[in-house]
Amino acid sequence: MKRLAVTLAVLAALAVARAEDGAPLYAQKCAVCHGKDGKGSPVGLKMGAKDLTATKLSEPEIAKVIESGRGKMTAFKGKLTDAQIESLAKYVKAGLK
Ligand code: HEC
Repeated sequence: MKRLAVTLAVLAALAVARAEDGAPLYAQKCAVCHGKDGKGSPVGLKMGAKDLTATKLSEPEIAKVIESGRGKMTAFKGKLTDAQIESLAKYVKAGLK
């Protein structure tokens, strides 16, 4: 029983760490165009990027845009793992928090 409790605690800690991965990834891969606050960098705005904090897309739709790209946005399939794309979609959906 004790071992089960330890295993669950470890899994919970891992889940939290995974969910938080979105922020550094965003800063690395997305902020160039979308800005640190998601409202769009000068470069991104010129390409037609919209305010990410105001997106109406669902989490799976956001994941799809990240994977396949849209308009002038780069596709990240092959550059990010599925888990990373998922964390980013969660992070964006949560209003970059
Ligand atoms: C090279 C610049 C660039 C980079 C890098 C970039 N984007 Fe984008 N993104 C855009 C542009 C431009 C659009 C608008 C596309 C369109 O609809 O024409 C967009 C659109 C989006 C949308 C759709 C928003 C909506 O409401 O329709 C999401 C979500 C998004 N980007 C997330 C991300 C994430 C997450 C990353 C990092 C993995 C990222 N983008 C990296 C330029 C970029």
